[in-house]
Amino acid sequence: MIIAIDGPTASGKGTVAKRIAAHYGLARLDTGALYRGVALALLDAGQDPKDVAAAEAAARALDPDAIDEGRIRTVEVGDAASIVAQMPPVRAALFDLQRRFAQAPQGAVLDGRDIATVICPDADVKLFVTASLTERARRRWAELEKLGQPTDLVALTALIAARDKRDAERPEAPLVQAPDAHLLDTTGLSIDEAAAAARRIIDAAVSGSHP
Ligand code: CDP
Repeated sequence: MIIAIDGPTASGKGTVAKRIAAHYGLARLDTGALYRGVALALLDAGQDPKDVAAAEAAARALDPDAIDEGRIRTVEVGDAASIVAQMPPVRAALFDLQRRFAQAPQGAVLDGRDIATVICPDADVKLFVTASLTERARRRWAELEKLGQPTDLVALTALIAARDKRDAERPEAPLVQAPDAHLLDTTGLSIDEAAAAARRIIDAAVSGSHP
């Protein structure tokens, strides 16, 4: 079984993906971490994230097992990730890796922006996870606070809105709900409630009873 989960920043898609993978015994790939890994490699090398040739080289050289989880979750890396993610050669360089992961023998959950539309258009179940901008900004603010990176909520909200716009308006693999994806709005839902809602959608879709 392949489950595709897409959605904007801090919509809860990562947490839902993790819970779903554990529940159904599937492998999970956080594809945003790949773009963040490329961005971090560029920043570490003192290169400009807008430099397409450098970004493509970093994407081709990326070792997914060597991505520094502890350093990719900053606002700066997230922002640079959405810049390199606009570049077709970067997306092409990361394509095979994601496709291969989706073929994991036990099945897989992939979460990102273009999983249902580009990476796994034939996924068994597609979820589009979202939440209001205010709630997403508040969640990300709390996450950053926990990571020891306190930020201003108003500035963070503006940054997230700008990233949403960049992700949704880019010509290559924009963030969009696939026509056959099930919408899951996590505004006002706890993590447990969001995961339970996702399980209900998946169980219904798999048993063929979902509209
Ligand atoms: O954690 P957050 O939702 O903020 O972002 P992420 O999922 O880690 O992704 C970081 C950036 O990578 C996004 O803003 C997208 O521009 C890009 N991305 C993408 O283009 N395609 C994907 N499948 C995953 C991420």
